[in-house]
Amino acid sequence: MSDLDPCWGTPSPFHDPYILAAFQARPTDVLITTAPKAGTTWMQQILHQLRSGGDDRFYSIFREVPWLELPHDELTLEQRLAAFDKLPEPRVFKTHCTREQTPGIGTARIILTTRDPRDCCVSFYHHLRDLTDAVKERSGIQIPETMEQHVEYWLRFGGWYRNVKSWWPLRDHPGVLMLRYEDLKTDLRAGLDRIIDFLGWSVSDEEMARVMEYCSFQWMKQNAARFTRQGHRDEEYFKPGGFIRRGVIGDFQLELSKEQELRILQRAREELEEACLEFLELV
Ligand code: PPS
Repeated sequence: MSDLDPCWGTPSPFHDPYILAAFQARPTDVLITTAPKAGTTWMQQILHQLRSGGDDRFYSIFREVPWLELPHDELTLEQRLAAFDKLPEPRVFKTHCTREQTPGIGTARIILTTRDPRDCCVSFYHHLRDLTDAVKERSGIQIPETMEQHVEYWLRFGGWYRNVKSWWPLRDHPGVLMLRYEDLKTDLRAGLDRIIDFLGWSVSDEEMARVMEYCSFQWMKQNAARFTRQGHRDEEYFKPGGFIRRGVIGDFQLELSKEQELRILQRAREELEEACLEFLELV
């Protein structure tokens, strides 16, 4: 498939453009399209809980809500697509794709959460450092030794900026719901109501009480193993206490210097339009 359209992105250990090109979205599908560390797993849990009316028996959220573009060493493209075909409807997928890389816009519904880039940057630092030794060794991922090293890498990688910049023009698209991590933290119930309204799903009061409990940070922390079995192997990717880590607004205040904070904000001001900065409360 050397004639693959470059719009699907370039292959990496976390990004398979071939599956994005081949994936056939259905109108009942929901795609989560967050920047890394902006509340992706929380949204996987929220959508799985809303569609099931409250499920505390699942083994790994990645079996319920697969990561669409995660490469697979052992299955062919056809086998992976066949596995996706067999998932019960409504299917929900996690992605970290930009708008250009996302299949099925206009067919599937898209939900994304944004999060303060300073908190995303800090969360990513701990993500890398909290990987198990086995995963670090096998993946060859470079682990930052200091926050400064990490901030420099995170800015160079630029994933947060690419993601937010690409989705912002679609914020009012009828098939797109753009939420903020901070709003979900402040009033989860209001966020859940917006989501079910957008998707046209119905959830009884009794089910909603379960959904609220299972989507709380406390429940997810207590059941962290269900969220850290992330790859295709049956293995936890993070050390105890990692990944479902602190889940707060403004963690960056404890971890970033003023100068690091400014570099992150300055880049946002250069790349994003005013209305977007206002939405993110970064002005
Ligand atoms: S990833 O690797 O990109 O998929 O990471 P992602 O899931 O987007 O982000 C992980 C951060 O989300 C926090 N989290 C939560 N916050 C609040 N409430 C709930 N229920 C919740 N679940 C996960 C998680 O703790 C990570 O943030 P930090 O700041 O590192 O704690």
